[in-house]
Amino acid sequence: MQGLSSWLWLGAVLGAGAVQAEVLVVEPGQRIQDAVRRAAPGDVVEVMPGTYRETVYVDKDGIVLRGIIVAGERATLDGENTRNDGILVAGHGVVVENFAVRHYKANGIMTQGANNFVIRNNIVEGTSVYGIFPQFGKNGLVSHNIVSKVEDAAIYVGMCDNVDVLYNETYASVMGIETENSHDMLVEGNYVHGNAAGMVISLVPGLPVKTAERTILRNNFVVDNNLDNFAPEGAIAAGLPAGIGVMVFAADDAIIEGNVFRNNGSAAIVFGDHASFSDVAPADPGMDPRPDRARVLRNVYIDNGTAPKDDIAALLAAAGIDHGPDILATGKGRKNCILDRRAVREAGTERWSECEAGASSADVVSMRTAAPVPSPALTREQRGHMTYLSVCTGCHTYNARIVGPPMQVIQTLYAGNPEGMVAYVKQPQKKWPGYPEMPPQDYLPDEVLLEVANYILALRPE
Ligand code: HEC
Repeated sequence: MQGLSSWLWLGAVLGAGAVQAEVLVVEPGQRIQDAVRRAAPGDVVEVMPGTYRETVYVDKDGIVLRGIIVAGERATLDGENTRNDGILVAGHGVVVENFAVRHYKANGIMTQGANNFVIRNNIVEGTSVYGIFPQFGKNGLVSHNIVSKVEDAAIYVGMCDNVDVLYNETYASVMGIETENSHDMLVEGNYVHGNAAGMVISLVPGLPVKTAERTILRNNFVVDNNLDNFAPEGAIAAGLPAGIGVMVFAADDAIIEGNVFRNNGSAAIVFGDHASFSDVAPADPGMDPRPDRARVLRNVYIDNGTAPKDDIAALLAAAGIDHGPDILATGKGRKNCILDRRAVREAGTERWSECEAGASSADVVSMRTAAPVPSPALTREQRGHMTYLSVCTGCHTYNARIVGPPMQVIQTLYAGNPEGMVAYVKQPQKKWPGYPEMPPQDYLPDEVLLEVANYILALRPE
């Protein structure tokens, strides 16, 4: 059945009839990128076990990039802490599966504006920005991956719609799983343990997508998330208090149901608005800064709040509370509810209500779309805009700092000089004290970089 359904699916993606997919096999000593270069849309690239020292960039549609596992041995992409990204995907309908990806300076596996993606059964370890990072895409699946030792979010779904994040394990990272400025996410059945914060549903200010709505966190195991926050100083992630199971940061219509929360030292679930983290989150007038209409349904809470950390410790101490709660609301929010309130320890939730009896998200089986979403070809100008959204905003916002400096400042440095910006982006030099290095974006064609630069120079406050 698998073969038949994936064939039908690829046919639908390509809009083609009977295309015979070719299988290209990569052996150790060869380069995966060479096979991707030879592949036609719809082909399968199979990578045999061994170590591959490269960055793979896939900008064709319908490619299946598959590691072949032999007696437990995987195809391993090793960045040796010198290369930036492991696998970058800009084509639609691409599958990335069965790899080990380790020691990259930026991201392990990233999609950039790609729709209909599947990222499954990969082991990603020790990357400095994100582990698995779909950015600005629609309709995707991230499942059965194991991601660890990431200095920001292990799995980070940025500005996406309709993505299922299922049955992953994330640990030893600053955040286990984050959805950011995204819509219609199902995050289910994941084991999220030993991070600074387990899961975060966020609306980050300064980004071009102005809302974050309808994330369901369901049936996850959220355990022992008490690591000290080791995000690079000044990154927005460094402002996140440790010891939290789940943080809902200004996102709306979240449902939290059926999860096991055990031993998260600050609190099991924290709700915050932009004002409560104003150091790292300057107000964005285009956004509603409050988390509204959240429904916290039945969850299991055991031994949370026993050793509050960072800002949560300070906040509880100021309120004279000596034990971290299961549910803590800081700042403002409207129409939020908790089911079976008497079962939980709460703080800051005075204006919350009891959810309606029997409330459940059980009718939602998947957030993915029934058919692949269409992905029309872009003009060069649109590609500049798209590249800004799908690459640059992973680290830059207009007026705030997430990883790199704000674009508003960059505009003044490069006014009238888009070529200068292109030169920098292809070969960045270290300039900004307290910031990490920017990874070169030299895999992108020059004309696309010039369109991005022009797009950035024309950006205005939203
Ligand atoms: C992985 C994170 C990351 C990504 C992706 C990224 N940047 Fe950066 N960028 C940075 C960091 C960090 C710095 C500051 C580096 C330093 O100290 O100079 C920076 C700095 C810059 C600068 C400032 C140069 C100067 O002269 O001061 C420009 C211009 C820039 N980025 C443009 C871009 C563009 C355009 C893109 C998208 C094509 C992009 N960046 C993608 C992280 C990133």
